[in-house]
Amino acid sequence: MLLFRSRAPLRLPPHSIKTFFTTTPPLKNDVSSTSILDHYSNGTLPNSYTSNFLTLLESDGLDLTTLKTSSLQKFDQFHVGGYKSSSLVFSKLNLKPGHTVLDVGSGLGGPARQMALEVEGVNVVGVDLFKSYVELSSVFNVVLSNEVHDEATGRTTMKNVVPPKFLHGDCQELGRYFSAGSFDGAYMIYVGMNIPSLNKLSEQLGLVLKEKGRVSVFDVVRGGEGEVTYPLPFASREEECFMRDEDTYVEAWKPSFKLIEQTDETPFAIHALSNAIKAARKENSDPGLVRIMGENFEVKIENLKKGFEEGQMKCVSHVYEKV
Ligand SMILES: C[S@@+](CC[C@H](N)C(=O)[O-])C[C@H]1O[C@@H](n2cnc3c(N)ncnc32)[C@H](O)[C@@H]1O
Repeated sequence: MLLFRSRAPLRLPPHSIKTFFTTTPPLKNDVSSTSILDHYSNGTLPNSYTSNFLTLLESDGLDLTTLKTSSLQKFDQFHVGGYKSSSLVFSKLNLKPGHTVLDVGSGLGGPARQMALEVEGVNVVGVDLFKSYVELSSVFNVVLSNEVHDEATGRTTMKNVVPPKFLHGDCQELGRYFSAGSFDGAYMIYVGMNIPSLNKLSEQLGLVLKEKGRVSVFDVVRGGEGEVTYPLPFASREEECFMRDEDTYVEAWKPSFKLIEQTDETPFAIHALSNAIKAARKENSDPGLVRIMGENFEVKIENLKKGFEEGQMKCVSHVYEKV
């Protein structure tokens, strides 16, 4: 692939992910995960489409040999509020250089790369169910080596930046991939709605986190009784959506975690979505976004905004601490 011919491979940190992988067992392909994968592939893209996708991006005018990390954010930050939301999530984790952090449902790796740039000396490991996203995340890491000065993040150096690692896996099965106590902290951004068993996920996170490890989440929960309109950015149909009301969501984290912070971010989310919709209406403003979210991406964003405004859904930020 000509995109990378002039790039030297990124150097891995000495204590890379291999040191705490236990096994790499095959994924179980149950009905719900197949349906979720159908959603993220937009029904037309295969489970593995890296080279195809990169060629399409190139034809959209995106050149990974020169791009900065922030140039990918329209589509590699797959949640409401982009960089701002990710920064908010990171700020709750009390991270220090040398810490290892798990990104649960890492998507295309935008938040993981942002963390690598914003939080010095931190090792980030992302896990995602969709193999194409995992492959693309690793490929997109190349943009980290283009960083000199990034206007959006204000960061200017690659010193102490550890490129994130990405693993294809189901976050409800974390104990199959990682040893107990592998991580100092974890975060999860716009993923809970895709997870059939949040109880299982919290139990598994409790296993792989260290004592008093924190989990910072930014997610969508059900608001009132009204019907949710589909498609949404994270689910095309009701059958692949596992959105719960906030009490049920919080309950699922017991008994491994206690809730230490809970904020309603819905007003912020509505504002961010209004801006995203305005930007999307400008022609050719988002190369890559249509490729990732499909031709109907505007409808998905509009339905989400409507759901927040009418109260059928809420955008929440929670922080949990391992007990
Ligand atoms: C809306 S995207 C958010 C991606 C990323 N957190 C971000 O904010 O850019 C949801 C992601 O969760 C992943 N996902 C869904 N179910 C999962 C599971 N059981 N295990 C791991 N990842 C999962 C999807 O493949 C998708 O990449």
